[in-house]
Amino acid sequence: MKIAVLAGDGIGPEIVAQAVRVLEVLRSDGLKFELEPGLLGGCAVDATGEPFPEATLKLVTTADAVLLGAVGGPQYDTLPRAQRPERGLLAIRKALNLFANLRPAVLYPELANASTLKPEVVAGLDILIVRELTGDIYFGEPRGIEQRAGQRVGFNTMIYSEAEIRRIAHVAFRAARKRSRRLCSVDKMNVLECTQLWREVVVETAAEYPDVELSHMLVDNAAMQLVRNPRQFDVMLTGNMFGDILSDEASMLTGSIGMLPSASLDDKNKGLYEPIHGSAPDIAGKDVANPLATILSVAMMLRYTFNQEPAAARIEEAVKKVLGQGYRTGDIYESGMKRVGTAGMGDAVLANL
Ligand code: IPM
Ligand code: MG
Repeated sequence: MKIAVLAGDGIGPEIVAQAVRVLEVLRSDGLKFELEPGLLGGCAVDATGEPFPEATLKLVTTADAVLLGAVGGPQYDTLPRAQRPERGLLAIRKALNLFANLRPAVLYPELANASTLKPEVVAGLDILIVRELTGDIYFGEPRGIEQRAGQRVGFNTMIYSEAEIRRIAHVAFRAARKRSRRLCSVDKMNVLECTQLWREVVVETAAEYPDVELSHMLVDNAAMQLVRNPRQFDVMLTGNMFGDILSDEASMLTGSIGMLPSASLDDKNKGLYEPIHGSAPDIAGKDVANPLATILSVAMMLRYTFNQEPAAARIEEAVKKVLGQGYRTGDIYESGMKRVGTAGMGDAVLANL
């Protein structure tokens, strides 16, 4: 199996290095794979002028899975839009048809106090956000900023075909079947036609899953309910933009955005695995970033693309133990705990593996 490793920008290289150490341990236990590095994002712009160079496209097309750190940085914010690092990320998702983005938000009991919400509100939290990743206002045309009647107007297009909605709905229903069989679909159908269609197609798809309890929620209410009573949710199904927003919100329920992994899958379970957080340029290179989201992304890779459930569970178990032993990076630190840096957290995970 070939894993493309795109460390990216900011804290990307540091956190990916720790995830690679975890993979190497599994290799010594018999897991067979090769790692091939590639450039994506700002580092790719620096080297080639493009955020998603041809060589990287070739690499990820032939790879079985992609491990990604994070992309972006303030030095790239003034570049033309086509050259921005984020464009590279969107382009790789589109090129590989990674339409199904799974973002689990799980609260480890040890981190109940790390959340800004009261422990009794978040205790036992275990949500899976299924976010559509290759459509919606992120990719819709027309889009742009232009002069109209003497002033600039900015515009984007929110668009979904029923086929796009149906295929992500199936992913969410199947995921719900493996969990508590409750699915909440998020839309804004009181205002937006696009999401009215979303709701209609989700309802149609539900006919094939009579054993899954389907509910619907408007996105503003969903944002509110996530902080009011997050444990009411099992699987949440969202479009691209609502999922982007709600998954950041959900991450804080778990204590830190530094804890959340993600999988972005095509229809054959080829996947790109990345932490949901960004490149955090302010703390890059300081050995303080939390590598656990990236390490947990490796666990998702083993589960979804390589079908190696025992190895995936083993990584997750090691992370649980590390937290139980009191190791904390700055983002999840509480007094009395053992403060470690990025590499120190990697050491602790390796020791428990
Ligand atoms: C995410 C990120 C990306 C997104 C950005 C970096 C383009 O916020 O993966 O959630 O908006 O999808
Ligand atoms: Mg986001």
